[in-house]
Amino acid sequence: MKILVTGGAGYVGSVTVRHLLDSWHQVIVLDTLERGWAEAVDRRAQLFVGNVGDPEALDEVLPGCDAVMHLAGYIDVAESQADPGMYFRNNVSRAQVLLDAMVRHEIGAIVFSSTAAVYGEPETIPVLESAPTRPISAYGASKLIFEQLLDWYERLHFIRTMRFRYFNVAGAWPDGSLGEAHHPETHILPRILQSMAEGQAVFEVYGDNHPTPDGTCVRDYVHVLDLAHAHLLGLERLAEGGEGGIFNLGSGRGFSNLEVVRACAEVTGCKVQVKVGPSRAGDPAMLVACIEKTLMNLGWMPERSSLENMVADAWTWHQARPRGYRTDDTATSAA
Ligand SMILES: NC(=O)c1ccc[n+]([C@@H]2O[C@H](COP(=O)([O-])OP(=O)(O)OC[C@H]3O[C@@H](n4cnc5c(N)ncnc54)[C@H](O)[C@@H]3O)[C@@H](O)[C@H]2O)c1
Repeated sequence: MKILVTGGAGYVGSVTVRHLLDSWHQVIVLDTLERGWAEAVDRRAQLFVGNVGDPEALDEVLPGCDAVMHLAGYIDVAESQADPGMYFRNNVSRAQVLLDAMVRHEIGAIVFSSTAAVYGEPETIPVLESAPTRPISAYGASKLIFEQLLDWYERLHFIRTMRFRYFNVAGAWPDGSLGEAHHPETHILPRILQSMAEGQAVFEVYGDNHPTPDGTCVRDYVHVLDLAHAHLLGLERLAEGGEGGIFNLGSGRGFSNLEVVRACAEVTGCKVQVKVGPSRAGDPAMLVACIEKTLMNLGWMPERSSLENMVADAWTWHQARPRGYRTDDTATSAA
């Protein structure tokens, strides 16, 4: 198949693109490079620098495509609270331009990167796909609104949709050649590894008075390559005429912040002292996915998603690329 991957120069996108290419699919990447890296795009893919909100760019890249994987978006929760308009513009309005272009070019399948942030603070753990969606950030709301748009394009057009709600994505391409390079980095695992690599003595966790076994927040981590494989399976299912739907992508297991710090220390051999800072407002104590539906329907297994494995692969990446893809002091590849 020929697949357009939006956001294919980002963390999840670059790994997904390589996995699709290794599975003999043809890939076009559409990315602005504002938060992604040309260097992260496998050379077998065609990179088109452009915006999903630009109909002319879409008219260039979409002809001949069989399906779209829409991963492009802004992902920083704190940034979305400071500037919600920026998130609704990019993650909703521009993304809708993509849907209209799919209608125009008669492309009938889309796999979308949604997020556990659509659930907000879940009432029950593990979180089922049928749990109430009450996002508590503009980021989560922007992803949920786009899911709802997908519903309507599915009902009223011919487009079939696969919506993956990711929990915490972690790890790297196992040889360390592709990995997480957000600037600033907000995800806990790469932040711990960065502190360790830089020889910092102290790492701050947000609160130790949550209703969890050790008082720190519990999250569900899934290996980025397992995630990429789910995308491939989802796409193949749509291509074979199978039903789309909403699917959680996690490992189904939760780890506390302290457990993550401990696993990082074990894998790297580096010590870091934990300092407990204040809890963050609206930070759910526990977020763990129920993945039964995904396992049953997609025949997927998160086989690389042990905590040790994810930390080890992320550490290989950090050691190979301590500055990520950066070659100078610029904040992004496009700057
Ligand atoms: N990383 C995670 O833990 C996580 C968790 C849940 C959901 N997600 C979702 O997965 C997707 C990928 O996340 P990531 O961690 O790879 O993020 P990332 O920032 O590394 O990659 C996103 C890419 O999209 C590009 N982009 C942004 N807006 C664009 C636009 N309008 N047109 C074209 N390109 C654009 C950026 O330049 C970047 O390369 C996002 O949609 C995110 O919401 C990620």
